[in-house]
Amino acid sequence: MKIFLDTADAKEIREMAASGLIDGVTTNPSLAAKTGRDYVESLREIATIVGGPISAEVLATDYDGMMKQAKIFTQIGKHIAVKVPLTWDGLRACKELSAGGVMVNVTLCFSPMQAMLAAKAGATFISPFIGRLDDIGEDGMGLIRDIRTVYDNYGYKTEILAASVRHVMHVREAALAGADVSTIPSSVFKQLYNHPLTDKGLAAFLADAQKANVVIKG
Ligand code: E4P
Repeated sequence: MKIFLDTADAKEIREMAASGLIDGVTTNPSLAAKTGRDYVESLREIATIVGGPISAEVLATDYDGMMKQAKIFTQIGKHIAVKVPLTWDGLRACKELSAGGVMVNVTLCFSPMQAMLAAKAGATFISPFIGRLDDIGEDGMGLIRDIRTVYDNYGYKTEILAASVRHVMHVREAALAGADVSTIPSSVFKQLYNHPLTDKGLAAFLADAQKANVVIKG
């Protein structure tokens, strides 16, 4: 499964990208607001750090405005994915941009039928928001499973990008459900590799080696 970082903070992205395990980045207006920086400037910097898809979300809600903002984003680089909301105008913009060879991430998806329309509009990514569904007592992971089934039934190539991920279990369940990508905050990325038995086992190996004076000679 691909791992994208869900942040607009270039410094944080640089730090996490040093792992060599980050396949892309997703941003949104709320994440951009948190940085206190100019959104396009941040995207330009992020585009120099990560070579995979970087989602840049439009602020316009009408088709013409979305297309204008998409043009600004795509001038940053070929690996920018224009992020549009799952609305009538968003789907129209998705269809047009995809036909022109631009990657599109359709965001704020909360139902399998919304996801089907995004696929028909040629979306590169569909972003179902798991955490926000769980927050209101609905089944976020069930949505990922349903979209997987619909896409497999009809051979849609749109990648399922599990979004609104809150913890490691979400990533695990999304991977088991067949999501193509999980976009995660860096706090969750750091937790992915942690296991108390790894730490305990490593401490025991090192202690045993030290006791018996085991060394690696070059
Ligand atoms: C990613 O593309 C989404 O914008 C993001 O995951 C939303 O997450 P949130 O529900 O934690 O705001």
